[in-house]
Amino acid sequence: MTQNVPQHLAIIMDGNGRWATARGLPREAGHKAGAEALKKIARAIADKGIKYLTLYAFSKENWNRPQKEVDALMNLFRQYLKEDLTDLSKQNAAIHFIGDRTRFPADIQQQMATWEAKNAPHAQLHLILALGYGGRDEITTGAKRLAEDVKAGIISAESITEDVMSSYLATADFPDPDLLIRTGGECRLSNFLLWQMAYTELYFTPVFWPDFDEKVLEEALTAYATRDRRFGRVKDNETGTF
Ligand code: FPP
Repeated sequence: MTQNVPQHLAIIMDGNGRWATARGLPREAGHKAGAEALKKIARAIADKGIKYLTLYAFSKENWNRPQKEVDALMNLFRQYLKEDLTDLSKQNAAIHFIGDRTRFPADIQQQMATWEAKNAPHAQLHLILALGYGGRDEITTGAKRLAEDVKAGIISAESITEDVMSSYLATADFPDPDLLIRTGGECRLSNFLLWQMAYTELYFTPVFWPDFDEKVLEEALTAYATRDRRFGRVKDNETGTF
């Protein structure tokens, strides 16, 4: 059992393709196994007391993958939104989406809207699915909206602060992630939550996403619990306070 649990956990679920290739299977089989891993771990994450879980499920750049793979992913998202999310939602989870959804098939966009309309404000877990998401795209879109509001006289350029900028992002309603886990062995952010992860603790594991389980989660949470988060400040040696 770990103490000092992150309030907000973000995950880059990487390695589905390599998991499949290592087994002589098509990449799509890796994504299917990845969806199964997600179903199993989501409840465990909520049970740890984590309140926000953001998952990088499909980046804006992922639209450039072969059509066959994109189609397989769309089918998985369709099924996940239609069936797999129901249990989690019944257990007091609110479902949110960030990213440019305009390129998604109409029925998936409809499912997203239906989930959002159902959300109760006091959920035990806020599950945030990043679909069609890109960090630079999010910042650019937010900056454009902010510029329009300045032009319209809704806000003055002088009163723009970091908090104001944050409020123009897709994540305006959520705290910044405390911990990022990236599976699959790569050590990079890949355009995920660039603004929000300024002070996020990073944890990289070689485990491919389909093999991610409670044991790996526990390892990551244990590592997080020992991190000394200073946010650029200095702590008093004796009291441990800033
Ligand atoms: C990265 O692995 C993973 C993705 C691009 C898709 C993530 C999708 C899932 C985990 C499937 C289920 C998700 C939901 C929400 C139902 P990769 O294909 O880049 O793997 P590789 O680096 O080994 O090629």
